[in-house]
Amino acid sequence: MSHDFTKSVVILILVTVCVASFSLVVLVVPNVVRTPELLAESNAKPLTPLQLAGRDIYISEGCHVCHTQMVRPLAPEVKRNGTPNKESDDIYEFPNLWGSKRTGPDLTNIGRKYSDRWHMIHLLNPRTVVPTSIMPSYPWLFEQTLTGNDIAVKMDTLRTLGVPYTDEEIDGARLKVRGKTKGEALIDYLQSLGVDTSEGVSP
Ligand code: HEC
Repeated sequence: MSHDFTKSVVILILVTVCVASFSLVVLVVPNVVRTPELLAESNAKPLTPLQLAGRDIYISEGCHVCHTQMVRPLAPEVKRNGTPNKESDDIYEFPNLWGSKRTGPDLTNIGRKYSDRWHMIHLLNPRTVVPTSIMPSYPWLFEQTLTGNDIAVKMDTLRTLGVPYTDEEIDGARLKVRGKTKGEALIDYLQSLGVDTSEGVSP
């Protein structure tokens, strides 16, 4: 028998399938096995309808391109941004917004840092509060209002992925979002960010 398996098409296909499925096994099996354990240790709360709408604005405005949501367990990062993320913090995140490029600071624990008013002034024009800021201004966020028409469908989809929304929450979602400005939704989302619940930490 020849050891050169490229000579046999059947063996070549079988070996290719084995090698290709390895990554699938590595990605899928730990998820299935570890989900109950992660759920048990997680402090994550599902986002409210308005926060969820805000998260979509965060993504569509590209905030995640400049900001990460992942504190690594390294002393300077912990000092600057608070407690490092655990895997279980992100069980309701689809997709996660960890990121690898920090043009602006990490926002993992930003909900502990500023008032709603500060966020509004900063989003309208970051240079009002940080004169050297290179962050863009987002004035339209406070001019455009949301209809809330798609929020129930989004929550329903997230429910199929494991986020425990109830029927009542989904039914009432549209009215929680309708008429709010994009800025209000985004700020509500930013204020929900915080895996760090320890006392006295100010990221
Ligand atoms: C071009 C890159 C860039 C984009 C895009 C961007 N930011 Fe920033 N952001 C920065 C920089 C740089 C800073 C630091 C200076 C400052 O505070 O303005 C910052 C600061 C912040 C802060 C304060 C962080 C702290 O710890 O003080 C918040 C909150 C924030 N950004 C939210 C947002 C949101 C929400 C969006 C999307 C609507 C966004 N950023 C888009 C670059 C960006």
